[in-house]
Amino acid sequence: MPERITIADAARHVGETVEIPGWLYNLRKSGRIVFPILRDGTGLIQCVAQKSELPEPVFEELKHLTQESSLIVRGKIRAEARAQGGYEMDVEGVEIVQKVAEIDPYPITPKEHGVEFLMDRRHLWLRSQRQHAIIRVRHEVIKAVRDYFDNHGFTLVDTPIFTPAACEGTTTLFEVNYFDDDKAYLTQSGQLYNEATAMAFGKVYSFGPTFRAEKSKTRRHLTEFWMVEPEMAYADLDEIKRVAEEMIVYIVGRVLDTRREELKVLERDVSKLEAVHAPFPRLSYDDAVKNLQQHGSEIQWGSDFGGADETILTEQFERPILVDRFPTAIKAFYMAPDPARPEVALGVDVLAPEGYGEIIGGGQRIHDLDLLLRRIEEHHLPREAFEWYIDLRKYGSVPHGGFGMGIERCVAWVCGLEHVRETIAFPRMLYRLRP
Ligand code: 4AD
Ligand code: MG
Repeated sequence: MPERITIADAARHVGETVEIPGWLYNLRKSGRIVFPILRDGTGLIQCVAQKSELPEPVFEELKHLTQESSLIVRGKIRAEARAQGGYEMDVEGVEIVQKVAEIDPYPITPKEHGVEFLMDRRHLWLRSQRQHAIIRVRHEVIKAVRDYFDNHGFTLVDTPIFTPAACEGTTTLFEVNYFDDDKAYLTQSGQLYNEATAMAFGKVYSFGPTFRAEKSKTRRHLTEFWMVEPEMAYADLDEIKRVAEEMIVYIVGRVLDTRREELKVLERDVSKLEAVHAPFPRLSYDDAVKNLQQHGSEIQWGSDFGGADETILTEQFERPILVDRFPTAIKAFYMAPDPARPEVALGVDVLAPEGYGEIIGGGQRIHDLDLLLRRIEEHHLPREAFEWYIDLRKYGSVPHGGFGMGIERCVAWVCGLEHVRETIAFPRMLYRLRP
């Protein structure tokens, strides 16, 4: 029995007869030879099947095989410099597992399809090379994030998804029924819980799905996305910025080290990623507003950046930028005001270059009990739901803070994509809940 291998492993089996289980990616025919291209999730390999080497019915079956049929190919691996991946297989036998019916062919062909057509067939689209590359980069980004925090003394403490109250503002909550007429909300962020666990463990992070019900139809918004959120006791704004910067440099470095092939498939200009090293430019919200006005934006001091503003700002830099001290009035209730200038908050956003915009939001939290109570009132938040959070300001309160990074925004930037929808296997957006 020949050994069963993956395409990624072909290099270690040159000259051997092996078996590769997979799917038919494409098929070229040239008289008495057919060239099935096999994919197996680890790569692509061109096979060479000669009429003279195979029983007649096997050759005929292969010759008429339909795209995405599943099959197990047996043959000898040969190094071939001109082949994609560097290897080919000379076919000695084929077992068809399931043939795609000719009357109902695989709907995604190499021709161009519209995005909506493809999104409706997302369950199949994931098999294409480009989507495959994106998801592999995403996997590496997530691994890098975890390794970064695991190697820097952070403890992973995941936070609940059902929550009794809002964290980032009440207008963007998904409400669900929670037994006996009680209401729960899908979490917008694990931050408030991270603040509790940071007081228990010092440095923590959570990583999980988060939900936003804002009706934004932009290239940056999903209704369900994955956020990594570190939180640190005894950390000030400078320390929070330092960690954000170091984490991003680490992520980009890891993708460059391990996912060059995928970046090539995506035609990503890697020189842009190679430019991502510390220190990142730091500017204040005040200066960012002036800069935007000089570049033709209508923005006035006091309002948040729009998507277009973020694009204008970040197209000017080759590295991510750290923008701090946004107006307190437009930030969440928990944001610590700058003691020297209470109208601005000790918060920071990291904006990715090349027009990508915000990938991280974070900052220092209010640690003073009275101020926090005042803010909860000003924001008309139900105090009962926050009693536990208020407790943190009664029992050993310390300056602390952290940030959240949306994985999809980070991946969209690293991969150089137009829209976040391709960075997650099954995106959830304002007008998309299927498949
Ligand atoms: O800036 P945001 O709203 O900050 C928070 O939720 C804080 N509680 C995080 C913290 O300090 N622990 O969201 C953080 C990040 C954004 O910078 C962005 O990357 C991502 O989450 N994000 C979204 N990603 C995709 N779709 C959306 N609708 C997103 N909203 C936020
Ligand atoms: Mg934000």
